[in-house]
Amino acid sequence: MAPSEAASSVNFFLDGNFSPVSEEREAQDMEIRGDIPKDLSGHFLRVGPNPVHIFDEAAYHTFDGDGMIHAIEFQGGLAHYRNRFVQTEGLKLEQARGDWVYKGMNSMMDPTPSRIPDGAPRNKNLANTAFAYHNNTLYALHEPSQPTIIRLPGLETDGATNFDGKLKHPFTAHPKVDQKSGEMMTFGYAFQPPYVSYSVINAAGELIHSTPITIEKPVFMHDFAVTEKYSLFLDFPITLDIERAMAGGPALGFEPEHGSRIGVVPRFGTDSDVRWFEVETGSVVHTANAWDEGDEVVLQASRSKTSDIANAGLGADNLQETQGQLYEWRINLISGAVTERTLSPARCDFTRVNDGYVCHKTRFVYGAVFNPVRPFSFDGVMKFDNETQTTTTFDYGANRFGGEAVFAPKVGATAEDDGYLICFVQDEAAEQSECLILDAQDIAAGPVASILIPFRVPYGFHAGWVANA
Ligand SMILES: [Fe+2]
Repeated sequence: MAPSEAASSVNFFLDGNFSPVSEEREAQDMEIRGDIPKDLSGHFLRVGPNPVHIFDEAAYHTFDGDGMIHAIEFQGGLAHYRNRFVQTEGLKLEQARGDWVYKGMNSMMDPTPSRIPDGAPRNKNLANTAFAYHNNTLYALHEPSQPTIIRLPGLETDGATNFDGKLKHPFTAHPKVDQKSGEMMTFGYAFQPPYVSYSVINAAGELIHSTPITIEKPVFMHDFAVTEKYSLFLDFPITLDIERAMAGGPALGFEPEHGSRIGVVPRFGTDSDVRWFEVETGSVVHTANAWDEGDEVVLQASRSKTSDIANAGLGADNLQETQGQLYEWRINLISGAVTERTLSPARCDFTRVNDGYVCHKTRFVYGAVFNPVRPFSFDGVMKFDNETQTTTTFDYGANRFGGEAVFAPKVGATAEDDGYLICFVQDEAAEQSECLILDAQDIAAGPVASILIPFRVPYGFHAGWVANA
């Protein structure tokens, strides 16, 4: 391990395989166990925080790391790995200075003057969280910011976009693309009113509809869900409170007395069209999918009883209570009744479905299975079947941890689960990064191929799949 990649003991998120890498690299002809399927054709992408210039190592928050993309291009049974920094304006500014300029989340509580020069962006668009692919364009996303356009296959950064000046609000890391209509639905949340804004971008990439969504106080609204007819907003109790932060408390805190409600608005509706439905109080970071079914709107998501977000998940003595389980809400739009239940006992997050079915009824949900004792660590992958109400899992094995697995349809796929689940896994004992490819119809059988990456791939946030045309 190069000295610049030496582990830090002062911060969980700068230690071990959470620590960043400094080099941009390429690899082909990698060692492979098994065979890469020949009907896998496209780009597996994973983005995450990879800090370069850190304001204060002890105070560093994992949300603040510069975006780095690790990608594997699949074609004809071959694999090509590359990793690249997202060349954001903030990173370029810090690289030119050779030191930190932005303090990130620390700037909320820290009164010392910033180093941000006149004319530079007030906040760093980190582009470190997740991807969206829409209108033949790949975006790297960061929820307080604008989407950053990335070119394939080389992962070059084209820069941030505001959709011809029409995007007036922050852009979630989890927009929803309805591949049947071609539309992309997005939203953003803010400390200042409107606390939530919602927009629709048409199939040609034009932002054609925007509306505020009124909620009582600002909340951490990381994800939402969309059906063919409606968009669903989660006014759940991870509250954002600057005054609480100034008084020495957490800026983000779980406040159960805030309650939990789901707002349902027609796809092209406005603020006055939103109907709110009270639900059991809990915490949701990521949804899986939502759809219309008769008089009902169905939402499935990873939900936990409580949240330890104020400690970034590191301080919980009740860790399992903060880990989600796949959960379902059925909202009857005629009667107003809501029924809700836990679907699977597995503790999971990074829940997602086949991207081609988002906004429409799905049978299968995939998720990353939490390690029960180590925060931010995933032991395996799961598949939940809505038809049989059963959960299948694959465990990576001892000292092996992964992240989000993404579904990649086979070339010519016809069934919803006709394809592969792809993820990065770190064998911490062997200090070996791998890319696993599982048959999505039989994940319990283990990988059909494991690619041994000759460079370390740190743990990250979300993954994505872009099929070759
Ligand atoms: Fe996320």
